[in-house]
Amino acid sequence: MKTIDLRSDTVTLPTDEMIDAIVAAHKAGRFGDDVSGEDQVVNELQEKAAKILGKEAALLVTSGTQGNLVSLFAQTKRGEEVVVEELSHSFVFEGGAMASFGGLYPMPVKGVKGYITPETLRDAIKPDDPHYARTSMVVVENTHNYAGGTVIRPEQVSALARMAHEHGLKVHCDGARLFNAAVALDIPAKDLVKDVDSVMISLSKGLSAPVGSLVAGSEEFIHEAHRTRKKMGGGMRQAGIIAAPGIIALEKMVSRLKEDHANARLLHEKLSKIPRIVVESPPETNILFIRLDKLGIDAEKFADELKKRGVLVYGEYGSRIRFVTHRMVSREDMIKAAQAVEDTAKSFQMR
Ligand SMILES: Cc1ncc(COP(=O)(O)O)c(C=O)c1O
Repeated sequence: MKTIDLRSDTVTLPTDEMIDAIVAAHKAGRFGDDVSGEDQVVNELQEKAAKILGKEAALLVTSGTQGNLVSLFAQTKRGEEVVVEELSHSFVFEGGAMASFGGLYPMPVKGVKGYITPETLRDAIKPDDPHYARTSMVVVENTHNYAGGTVIRPEQVSALARMAHEHGLKVHCDGARLFNAAVALDIPAKDLVKDVDSVMISLSKGLSAPVGSLVAGSEEFIHEAHRTRKKMGGGMRQAGIIAAPGIIALEKMVSRLKEDHANARLLHEKLSKIPRIVVESPPETNILFIRLDKLGIDAEKFADELKKRGVLVYGEYGSRIRFVTHRMVSREDMIKAAQAVEDTAKSFQMR
């Protein structure tokens, strides 16, 4: 029985072309010490990413988490406050690192489908009064994972950035799945980040590269981000080994994300027909959630049972289960996965 792994798009393995690109770069003598800026493949990837994102410069980092933290720390001072969506990766899933490593004070606010409205931001910004921490940044996550892979539209990003900039705040975009948003809207990714000061994109999620993320912004930001990355232990040596698959990821793997989105819609359609499974809004990209409240069981137990039927999901969301589609699952897998969910739900009803 083939395992259908819907835990995350991070489970995607590198393509043969990515592995070939590593070997080809090695044979061509293009690797070097990236801490001294001497790896030609890293330099090519960074230039390509900056161009795609419409920014002056970009920097390769080890992971999305490191990219978010580098972006925050490079643009803030310890003791300052950062406005974050209450279910965002920056706030919930980074081990509290913005506070513990960066001395930053997170100010969580409720978004609408993951979007912090300009009004919500305005209400969260503290006056210039010594009672308060100085509010200096806001993070926008696009797509928003926990809200269900929701897309924040360019005009929404612009409106938020306008409010932030009027109050002297910087804007960081956690674009771990920025290309999913761009593909869903059928627009260039740079249109989604033209008004933000920094952006992080992941190579290792739907784009299938094995490792790595990039941050991008002005030359000045990247200069500071470089220093911050080094302090965080993120200076790598022959990092071209990571960058070579990353180039393939950016060149060849973006447009196919629409297949993942179509599979997520198909899965949603099938899951919607299962009694007592509450399916959240139709997916805008490659992530969807179901709720198990009507079955009265928690996600962890359900995930364990589903695993016995060959479908993997993370059961860490209370009574919610997340499904993420990606390159390594097919349309047929969606039908099988929905059947496994139905069988699992029935097995609980019979107990
Ligand atoms: C929205 C979002 N931001 C950041 C990250 C962090 O990326 P990484 O796992 O590479 O640290 C993730 C990872 O799943 C994510 O979903």
